[in-house]
Amino acid sequence: MNVSIINGPNLNLLGKREPNIYGSLTFEEYLKSLKKEFKNITFDYYQSNIEGKIIDRIQEVGFSSDYILLNAAAYTHTSIGIGDAIKSVDSPVIEIHISNTFSREDFRHKSYITPVAKGLIIGFGIDSYRLGVLSLLKKN
Ligand code: DQA
Repeated sequence: MNVSIINGPNLNLLGKREPNIYGSLTFEEYLKSLKKEFKNITFDYYQSNIEGKIIDRIQEVGFSSDYILLNAAAYTHTSIGIGDAIKSVDSPVIEIHISNTFSREDFRHKSYITPVAKGLIIGFGIDSYRLGVLSLLKKN
């Protein structure tokens, strides 16, 4: 199975950015632990602070990846374009958030991703990504 992880704006600063909310690990460190735990999965990782580049990446991997784990960060709450990109590709998208956006400011309660995502994992710290991967392994 191959899984594409896409992170949006400011997630390149994980480890430094508001560690009380987002934790103290960098994503690169965390990704190493995911690769170690899920040896049968091939992961590719992309991060951008730029909305159009996230859309380009969804189009690039969205016809070949088995799944996309997407944390669109602040664009979650604003981007019709990212929502449309998800609708345009074949790969199912799992929406991921580190923090529980519903326990935060009102502007974080709206998501343009949730209506077009296969599922949503939210609020479990950086392990939201791991729970996202586990959800893909479950056979229904
Ligand atoms: C986030 C939540 C967003 O509201 C915020 O803009 C982020 C990160 C999360 O993972 O908790 O940058 O997507």
